[in-house]
Amino acid sequence: MNPVSADVRQEVQALREQIHEHNYRYYVLDDPTVPDAEYDRLMNRLRELEASHPELVTPDSPTQRVGSRPQATFAEVRHEVPMLSLDNAFTEDELRDFDRRVRERLGDLLPGGDLFGAEIEYSCEPKLDGIAISLLYENGQLVRGATRGDGYTGEDITENVRTIPSIPLTLRGSEWPSVLEVRGEIYMPKASFEKLNETARARGEKTFVNPRNAAAGSLRQLDSRITASRGLQMCCYGVGRMDGVEFKRHTDVLEALNQWGFRVSRELQVAKGVEECLAYYHTMAEKRDSLSYDIDGIVFKVNDLGLQRELGFVSRAPRWAIAHKFPAQEEMTQVLDVEFQVGRTGAITPVARLQPVFVGGVTVSNATLHNMDEVARLDLHIGDWVIIRRAGDVIPQVVRVMSERRPKEARAVSLPSQCPVCGADVMQAEGEVVARCSGGLFCAAQQKEAIKHFASRRAMDIEGLGDKLVDALVEKGWVKKVSDLYRLTEDQVASLERMGRKSAQNLLKAINKSKDTELQRFIYALGIREVGEATARTLANHFGELEALMEASEEALQQVADVGPVVANHIHAFFAQAHNRETIAELRELGVQWKNVETSAQSDVLAGKTVVITGTLASMSRDQAKAALLAMGAKVSGSVSGKTSFVVAGENAGSKLTNAQALGIPVLNEEAFEQLLATGTLDLGTSDSQA
Ligand code: IVH
Repeated sequence: MNPVSADVRQEVQALREQIHEHNYRYYVLDDPTVPDAEYDRLMNRLRELEASHPELVTPDSPTQRVGSRPQATFAEVRHEVPMLSLDNAFTEDELRDFDRRVRERLGDLLPGGDLFGAEIEYSCEPKLDGIAISLLYENGQLVRGATRGDGYTGEDITENVRTIPSIPLTLRGSEWPSVLEVRGEIYMPKASFEKLNETARARGEKTFVNPRNAAAGSLRQLDSRITASRGLQMCCYGVGRMDGVEFKRHTDVLEALNQWGFRVSRELQVAKGVEECLAYYHTMAEKRDSLSYDIDGIVFKVNDLGLQRELGFVSRAPRWAIAHKFPAQEEMTQVLDVEFQVGRTGAITPVARLQPVFVGGVTVSNATLHNMDEVARLDLHIGDWVIIRRAGDVIPQVVRVMSERRPKEARAVSLPSQCPVCGADVMQAEGEVVARCSGGLFCAAQQKEAIKHFASRRAMDIEGLGDKLVDALVEKGWVKKVSDLYRLTEDQVASLERMGRKSAQNLLKAINKSKDTELQRFIYALGIREVGEATARTLANHFGELEALMEASEEALQQVADVGPVVANHIHAFFAQAHNRETIAELRELGVQWKNVETSAQSDVLAGKTVVITGTLASMSRDQAKAALLAMGAKVSGSVSGKTSFVVAGENAGSKLTNAQALGIPVLNEEAFEQLLATGTLDLGTSDSQA
């Protein structure tokens, strides 16, 4: 093997230094100075050099954070300095008591003595909700990472902590102690937690109850490559051993740790006296939800290290520190019932009715169960004891069922077959987790959305009937379903807030005008699930009249280009509902009408024509455009040639468009194409082949 040149060694060294510095700025200070792309470039170059010179790879290289092969077990670690816990204060009074005890104990050591209102200086830090960790550095190198365990003996998780980017593998600078044991919390940011659970849910795997459990689970991986993928963070709050260096205050220690490459809390503050501590507590309680990680309280520590020594420890906790807890975000309660709610789009959601419980600062008596898959995943029964979590503004969630406490009389949950609001059939399409009410046109839960869609520009196009007006009409009880729009009187409309006589007349005129419509618009206006404009047009062209569509079987519907089994099922279920049919009949009685369409079976407008589609169309997919062209008798080809009759070009069309232009083949933009579909006549004279 060739000896590695000095140049390469130097470059590797320089790259590592730069990357270490960028890591520090990014992961520890949250203040990156280079764009991600530049960072990636440096990393890639280093990986490349290390790949061609493996002998240059060192354990502290930034490339070595990806994790290593699975271990068999974790070795035991004894903590030379025990990792103790903290006493808790749950109320303001308990915090005041703590402060009083501190002052009384220190007594004469305080300026003026405690009785004369001497105020203690406290370090105020968020209490991170994660896993306590000890990191040991010898001569600036990370040699061991260990869990707290029982405080005296923990587990060696060095391989796992090495994968966490905010943990330095080598200390920064040169002024560090020869032996340094740093303590802090490893936690999973909320965003990483959500992502992890989302992936688990999508795969039907078990989810983690909260970020803390997720962090613990990720750290206890024997395969550190899994740990590496979990987005863990470390924040330091103190030291165990620190040989040969002295500091006066706890916050000085934290500052030094930060200089040596560790992340410390951005929220760290110093308070004089207990009142300032309480003010900090309240500020942080307000801020809690907006932080990117979970905290479960505030830790107050006497800042003067001399005074800390004076105060000492009692049993397993220091007398110089206390955790002032926030209201718990998780509680236990019982499921009294499961009810089903119907959303604005017909989605049917199971909701757990709970024995009211105080959690996350409020009394909770309902929790969403999302859908029946979630109920099955949780294995939730009516009567079960469950763990509820309410974090911030997030809707309360059932995170776990305590199946070991399931009462004998607990009952399984089943999806109702009829909508609890309107009685229409509940449908659940294959492969979909959400069940839906099929009473789209008349279900009270879906009224407003159905009416807004019906009136919209591309549907019945009722000018002036905006969302606010629909809300008001529904709230008055005048419009319960779309057909009621055609029964509105001028007096009714004029009596609404901010509606004059003139605007009422205009609205009625617009409603009246909408009666003359087109079949495809009417089909689209019905708001059948997954029947967008393009599908509505294909259906209109295929069936020609509404009756034929209403009577079509699912098999017949699937004969339509671009209609698959799911859409066929939606259409069939919609027309199977008597109420939907009644509403349609009423609309026709009230004068809604259209001309029937010459069906595509007879349509030969594009017979003998070869068409190429290119670019992105705003109003339909490529497949839908193709289906519409085929329905008109055209052949659709993938490439432009002398045989191409015309090209349909959407946004960002590429070489096909250029080829067509070069060959002088007519080009239809989206507008012209829509014109063709709507009128069934092709006018190549107005195409924009020169555009
Ligand atoms: S100081 C001897 N500071 O809370 C006291 N602990 O209940 C050492 N924790 O096991 C702890 N944030 O894991 C301290 N800013 C903070 C903390 C913190 C979270 C955890 C720590 C400890 C537990 C004590």
